[in-house]
Amino acid sequence: MTQQRQTQNSRIDREWWKEAVVYQVYPRSFNDSDGDGIGDIPGITERVDYLDDLGVDVVWLSPVYDSPNHDNGYDIRDYRAINEEFGDMADWERLRDELHDRDMKLIMDLVVNHTSNEHEWFQRSRREEGEYADYYHWVEGEPDEPPNDWESLFGGSAWSWDDEREAWYLHVFNENQPDLNWRNPDVREAVKGVVTWWVEQGIDGFRMDAISHLSKPEGYPAGDPDEPGPSGSEHYTFGPRLGEYLDELGTVVPDGAMSAGEMGGADADDAREFVQRGDCLDMVFHFDHLDVDQADDWTDDNWGEWSLPEFEELMTRNQREVAEPAWDALFLGNHDHPRIVSRFGDESERRRSATCIATFLLTMRGTPYLYQGQELGMTNAEFDDLSEIDDAMTVGLVEDMLESGTVDSFDDVREAVNYRSRDHARTPMQWADDEAAGFSEGDPWLPVNDNYDEINAAEARADDESVFHHYRRLIDLREDDPVFVYGDYDTLVADDEQFYAFTRELDGERRLVVCNWSDEPATFAPADFTADDTEVLLANYDDAPTDPVGATFRPFEAVVYAY
Ligand code: GLC
Repeated sequence: MTQQRQTQNSRIDREWWKEAVVYQVYPRSFNDSDGDGIGDIPGITERVDYLDDLGVDVVWLSPVYDSPNHDNGYDIRDYRAINEEFGDMADWERLRDELHDRDMKLIMDLVVNHTSNEHEWFQRSRREEGEYADYYHWVEGEPDEPPNDWESLFGGSAWSWDDEREAWYLHVFNENQPDLNWRNPDVREAVKGVVTWWVEQGIDGFRMDAISHLSKPEGYPAGDPDEPGPSGSEHYTFGPRLGEYLDELGTVVPDGAMSAGEMGGADADDAREFVQRGDCLDMVFHFDHLDVDQADDWTDDNWGEWSLPEFEELMTRNQREVAEPAWDALFLGNHDHPRIVSRFGDESERRRSATCIATFLLTMRGTPYLYQGQELGMTNAEFDDLSEIDDAMTVGLVEDMLESGTVDSFDDVREAVNYRSRDHARTPMQWADDEAAGFSEGDPWLPVNDNYDEINAAEARADDESVFHHYRRLIDLREDDPVFVYGDYDTLVADDEQFYAFTRELDGERRLVVCNWSDEPATFAPADFTADDTEVLLANYDDAPTDPVGATFRPFEAVVYAY
């Protein structure tokens, strides 16, 4: 972990997790040690030195708990056991120790908005056993008439009928993921018990899944079909008691632990409010900046169209209104989003565009997150048919559209699926130009991307100019220079279609980041800005302009200066 350094600056509140760079591992797709085609915990342990070389400080492990895997582990059957496919508790302890031995931290995914329907709590709840009867959201009624028109985020009604209990239960995600009833104090105690148990296992914090959905209104009023997004999400997102529940959860998250909450639906104001609220969330994943390239409808043909000024406006708002007054998570992807280069870069200029994006991300204020393979510049896959998709969200939503007749065939949504399927991020990690990309000696659970012969970790590590080494140098730079972590942010050419350029400043120390985020050369000519005595700290081309103002920057050229 980064050492706490002394600073003269009283405006900043130093914390290890502000100075850290986080790496997200999606265990199923990271590294398979036993040849069954599924990544596992010993496989991750084999790669700890790789992560150490890259220079990251924290590993966020997507769920490794016992699960029937309807949503790849985000449907937990037992919070205190490891998924057999991934290993056992002894394997997990070895991973924790190997990370800690290298001064790296480990944070776990905490999925407590819902459990699996195979969790013992749900099994007992459907049988109305004692205190468990009220652990989930049950509503009595007729089997053909759901309690209201709420839609699940994964398609179809948010209610399913349970034949055993003869009642409806609520699931914001799929039917195998019933929502816990947080109104019930016993549920809150049980969840706090899970948190405490994992803290006792020596972890360093949590990424809290789907945390904006914990609170549901009393009485389950009907949703508004005219609201953007699924009907009902306005009721089951940021519900009336969310803050109270987070405060209570915060009482068992120890001081010094890190916690990042995933808050779908949050804007900058929500993110700031929940971070400033108190002890539960140190930062929030909010997705407003990742909406810029999303079309309104699955049948639209403008998926992937976005503009740099719009993106910059959102990022700047997040810097000023979230990261500066509170704190923020800096990320452009995860296991739920397409690959960054395919999305915001240019696959035909892969190395330059990936390093340009990396430069931008690692020099902003906030805690940066890398998703596995991002450091290699991994790209999206191609899906020709629904049968090639594993992702429960895409399959659920598309099947729903086909069933309801909203679309006639897969062809109507092929473009949207190819753009947004979560499987893009879940194809196996590309380690080498070997069978199955060096991910597994067996048949991978999801096919590897065909481009593994060109894009893989072995090649990248052997090439000093690679995306990998650029990330490594950026992480180094950030760790040695508190201006990138704590400095104030100012944008320079806000409406420019090609440049994203900004300054960082702390105690009179100044940095300038210039990114030509386009495939054409461009002259950098900010109004009312001069930079004297510039020194190039890092660049993704040789011979970067030493005097940036008035200079021409090549396609996707990104340069970091001190001045
Ligand atoms: C979060 C996870 C996603 C999962 C969902 C339900 O959004 O990131 O992968 O499907 O929650 O747990």
